[in-house]
Amino acid sequence: MTKSWIRLCGVTRQFSQGLTLCWALRGIDLNVPQGAFLAIVGPSGSGKTTLLNLLAGIDRPSAGQVWVGDWRLDRLDEESLARWRGRYVGIVFQFFQLFPTLTALENVRLPLELQAVLPARERRRRALDALEQVGLAGRAQHLPAQLSGGEQQRVALARALIHDPLLVVADEPTGNLDSESGRHVVALLRQVHRQGKTVLMVTHDRQLAQEASLRLHLRDGRIVSREEDGDAYR
Ligand SMILES: Nc1ncnc2c1ncn2[C@@H]1O[C@H](COP(=O)(O)OP(=O)(O)OP(=O)(O)O)[C@@H](O)[C@H]1O
Ligand SMILES: [Mg+2]
Repeated sequence: MTKSWIRLCGVTRQFSQGLTLCWALRGIDLNVPQGAFLAIVGPSGSGKTTLLNLLAGIDRPSAGQVWVGDWRLDRLDEESLARWRGRYVGIVFQFFQLFPTLTALENVRLPLELQAVLPARERRRRALDALEQVGLAGRAQHLPAQLSGGEQQRVALARALIHDPLLVVADEPTGNLDSESGRHVVALLRQVHRQGKTVLMVTHDRQLAQEASLRLHLRDGRIVSREEDGDAYR
C-alpha cells in the first residue's frame, strides 16, 4: 500500500455565522499518498473549499490534526504557516488573480521576485520555461486583458509552478472557463501530476473529476465516498 503523505485525523472546522455556528467540516479522516491527483467534489456548501484551504495551509482546523509529510500544519503559527505555504504550495484560483498591469511573463516571475533568491537572468529563464510548459511561450509580453480566460488560467498555473512546489492546489480552476479551455487546464494539471507533484483540485464537473486518480465526495462537511482509479468503496 502506498504510504500516506497527507493525513487528516478527526478534523472539524466551524465558523460563526452571527449567533449560530456553522460546521463546514465534521470529523474528516483522510489519507492521500504523495504524487496523487485528488479531485474534491460535492454540492455547494459541502465544505470543498474549506477542506482544500486546510490542506494548503491557507486555513487551520477548529479541532483535529492536519499533517503533510512531517509537517503538522495545525500546530504552526501564522508566520510559519505562511512560510510553509510560500515554499511548498502552488495555488491556482477560480478567478485567475493575475495582476492586470503586469505582462504574462512578469506575473509568472512575481513569486521569484518576492523571494529574490535567484539572479534576475535565472528568474527570467524559469518564468519562460514555465510559460513554455503551459504552451504560452509566444504570449510572454501580453497583458492579462489581451489573453483569453483559458490562457489567463494557464499563466496562473505557470505562476503556481514557478517555485517548484510539492503541492499544487486549485479551487474550481475551470469554473470560469468554457469546456474546451477547462479540459486543457485539467490536462495540464494531469501533466503536472505525472511529473511527480501532488495535485488537489476542487471541481463541480464530474467528467473533469474522472481525470484525477482519486476522488472524494463531500456532503454536509463529511466524506461520503472515496473512489480510486475507478473503484468506489466505503
Ligand atoms: N469564512 C466563513 N465564515 C462563515 N462561514 C463560512 C466561511 N467559509 C465557509 N463557510 C461556510 O462553511 C460551509 C462550507 O463552505 P465551503 O466554502 O467550504 O463550501 P464549498 O463546498 O466550497 O461550496 P461552493 O461549491 O459553493 O464553493 C458553508 O455553509 C459556508 O457558508
Ligand atoms: Mg468552494
